Order: sequence, then structure tokens, then C-alpha cells
Amino acid sequence: MKISAAIKGVYGHVPDNVVTNHDLAKVVDTNDEWITSRTGIKERRHQTEGASSDMAQMAVDGLLKKLDIDPLEIDLVVVATVTPDYPFPSTANVLCDKSGMKNAWGFDLKAACSGFIYALSTGAQFIESGKHKKVIVVGVDKMTSIIDFEDRTTCIIFGDGAGAVLLEPDENGLGVQDFILRSDGSGREYLVQPGGGSLHPPTHETVDNRMHYVKQEGKQVFKFAVTNMADVSAEIMEKNNLKSDDIDWLVPHQANLRIIDATANRMGLPKEKVMINIQKYGNTTAATLPLCLWDYENQLKKGDNIVLSAFGGGFTWGAVYLKWAYNS
Ligand code: UT7
Repeated sequence: MKISAAIKGVYGHVPDNVVTNHDLAKVVDTNDEWITSRTGIKERRHQTEGASSDMAQMAVDGLLKKLDIDPLEIDLVVVATVTPDYPFPSTANVLCDKSGMKNAWGFDLKAACSGFIYALSTGAQFIESGKHKKVIVVGVDKMTSIIDFEDRTTCIIFGDGAGAVLLEPDENGLGVQDFILRSDGSGREYLVQPGGGSLHPPTHETVDNRMHYVKQEGKQVFKFAVTNMADVSAEIMEKNNLKSDDIDWLVPHQANLRIIDATANRMGLPKEKVMINIQKYGNTTAATLPLCLWDYENQLKKGDNIVLSAFGGGFTWGAVYLKWAYNS
């Protein structure tokens, strides 16, 4: 039997600090009604101390404890993030040290809001090849470290959080079945952190010009996101001969409730089959999908057909089809 990569556990971490729409209305010219109707977000979490690796550590430590696994057993850690602790070394490197995963190697993967599906598909390859037995995939972002709290078009959207899953080999046909991943770098101007990299290394000028903050042309990104996320989700269904009734859950990236609804409609799925937590966490970039799995874990059943789907900066987008591997 072919080896597939199955998720054997999930854990999440969000900071305690809750920031409501009303709180943000005291900082920028906005209001609860606008944010709720345009995005579906009511509140988000802001990390007040520490870095992405600290949230990732909370998620990974929680995961290992829950599954009663020694950190020394972990072979590989893939961390999806656009807010690494440092330009280098990688957050995976730091995380392995903090969580005691001393036998693991690891790396960061940058695909913005599509980070988790890129990382999950990558981690799955190391299981399927037979090379590794225990792979941890993390989605983590401290978006508040790159958000401009003078820009009402972005600061209302994003939040901080982390989620982690453990992948192990499965020989019973469960786990990751298929993925479709896409990338179009010509979209980079619409959603970008322009400063701080090799194109515009940090200078007084880049900081004065606020180039180290996220810039987004929301309308343009919305247009691409709503089409591509729905298209790729329909495509993975068709490729795997899945009808709407065959799908138990859609796990959509949590960027905007209107994009989630459009994707679910295109797949012919009722609301009850769609994981939604955008109202309480906002857009946590690479963390949205594992945080959804964490929130809904106790409703998932062994054998459930699940489609994860995302769209993000780059542009990057895609979908993963998997069969859930355990009952909670
Ligand atoms: O996660 C990765 C991918 N990212 C996404 O998928 C995000 C995609 N884009 C979106 O979700 C939406 O475009 C936004 C939520 C960012 C914005 O919603 P929108 O319906 O596209 O609004 P808009 O940008 O067209 O702005 C409409 C109006 C503008 O005023 P005028 O020009 O009509 O007078 C904005 O200035 O709303 C104004 N506006 C705000 N008003 C109150 C923009 N931000 C705010 C705000 N509060 N926070």
C-alpha cells in the first residue's frame, strides 16, 4: 500500500490580548459596522511580547504534550511564516531549539497566506518518500510586527497566532490525497512588504517612508482572491471526482468572509461544512488554516473528506485534499 502523510494531531496558540473593532476605532478612522460587514472580523489577538517563534513554541509544545511524543522523535519542522524572528537564522531553527527538537532539521517557507498549504504539501513529501516518520508543519505569523497602525485599510484585518500539525505515515489511504499549488509573482505589487529585503535594505529613508509595513491594494487582491480560491477549490474537486456531497469540510483561508462564502458557493457547500473563525482571530496569514483545524478538531471524524484552500500575497494560492485520520 502506498504511504500517505496523515495529520495525527493539531494544536494552536493565540495571544491572550483581545483587540476588538471598537478598540481599533479609537486608533484609526473606522467603525465596527464597516469592519464587520466588509470582512466578518469582530476581534483579533495581538502579541504584546515575544516573537513568532514564541507562539510557534506554544503550539508545538502543546501538540507534543497532547500526543505524548518526545521532541527528540521529530525528524523535520517546516515553518510557514512571513514574520520570521530574524531575516536569518530561520524561525524553524529557533523553534527546534526552544522546543527541544534536537534531532530535527527544519526550514522556513514563505508563501504569505498560502504558507500553510505550501508547507503541508512540502512536509507530506518527506513522509510519502519514506525518508521521515514524524514531520511538524507550523503556520505562524506575528502580523502586528509588520502592520501600520496608521493605515486603516490593513490594520483592521490582521491578527497574530500559530498552529501546528504532526504528520505521520499512513498505509490505510488516509491523509493527504492531492494538492494543487499556484504562484504568479506579477501580483507582487498589490500585496507586499516593500522594505527590509535586498531590493530596499533598511535605511532611515525606508523607515521614514513606512516601507517595512504591509501595503495592500485591497480591491485588486479581493478580485484575484475571490476568483482563484474558488477556481482552485473547484479544480481539486473535479480532479479527484468529488461531488459537493462527498466533501465533509472546507477549511478556507480566513481573509474575508465574502471570499469564504464565494468559495463555498462555488463548491456547492452549505455553511455547516465551512470552518470559520475569522470573527475572533482576523487574518493570521499562515496560521489561519491550522487554527481552524484546531477549533473544529472535535467535530472531525476519521475518513472525513477535507479541502483546505488559500490565496495570498505573491500571488500564491492553492488547495489540498485530505482524508482526516482520527476521531478526537
Ligand atoms: O489574506 C491575503 C489576501 N488578502 C485578501 O484576500 C484581502 C482582500 N481584500 C479585502 O478583503 C477587501 O478589499 C478589504 C476588506 C481590504 C476592503 O474592503 P472593500 O470592500 O474592498 O473596500 P474598499 O477598499 O473598496 O474601500 C471602500 C471604502 C473606501 O472609501 P471611499 O473611497 O469609498 O470613500 C475606503 O477608504 O471604505 C473605506 N475604508 C474604510 N472605512 C472604514 C477602507 N478601510 C476602511 C476602514 N474603515 N477600516
